[in-house]
Amino acid sequence: MKLYLDTAEINLIEKAVASGIISGVTTNPSLLAKAGQKDVAQTIKAICQLVDGPVSLEVIGLSKDEMVQEAKEYAQIDPRVVIKIPMIHEGLKAIKELKELGIKTNATLIFSTGQGLLAALAGADYISPFIGRLDDISAEGLDVVAELAQIFDLHGIESEIIAASIRHPRHVIGSALAGAHIATVPWKIVDQMVKHPLTDIGLEKFLADWEKMKNQN
Ligand code: G3P
Repeated sequence: MKLYLDTAEINLIEKAVASGIISGVTTNPSLLAKAGQKDVAQTIKAICQLVDGPVSLEVIGLSKDEMVQEAKEYAQIDPRVVIKIPMIHEGLKAIKELKELGIKTNATLIFSTGQGLLAALAGADYISPFIGRLDDISAEGLDVVAELAQIFDLHGIESEIIAASIRHPRHVIGSALAGAHIATVPWKIVDQMVKHPLTDIGLEKFLADWEKMKNQN
């Protein structure tokens, strides 16, 4: 199981890279807008220089030709760039063509096992089920991850599952248990995973006892 950071904010990526816990980054148009970096190519290039792993960048075009044209441009930014393609009919055609061109793709906005299977069959290198958004509508996001993992394992499908739209630390654990290859998480979730009140209490006690011992006559 690998962790990617789901952000376009350089300062957060720097923090995550420093702790050695991430091996990639995913972005999307909303995350790039939130980061406020209008020069997308420059932002992605900077991210690629920080992270020695895949960096996903999403196309905006909605036709196969537009997606492929954008993908060719984005692929020139850095060898680490993976092209995010939305799971629509035109996206499947773009994934197929990009596979033939040797450009890696990440099929995004996946909300069903069927969508994930089709994207994998089209040739997507990564499949991104949005588990948080499924949970938001009282569906079971992790079930999609588990079914895709079982199908891919049964049939030797090599696409990797990136559990996305992670809402809390248990989504990360649940994705790992369900068989996701990767979870892409916001920094906030990383922070929540690090912290535990009993760790703080235990550390405080250790330090207090140490000080008590050092001050004994
Ligand atoms: O990678 C997809 C992710 O950024 C979507 O998350 O919280 O907008 O559902 P969210």
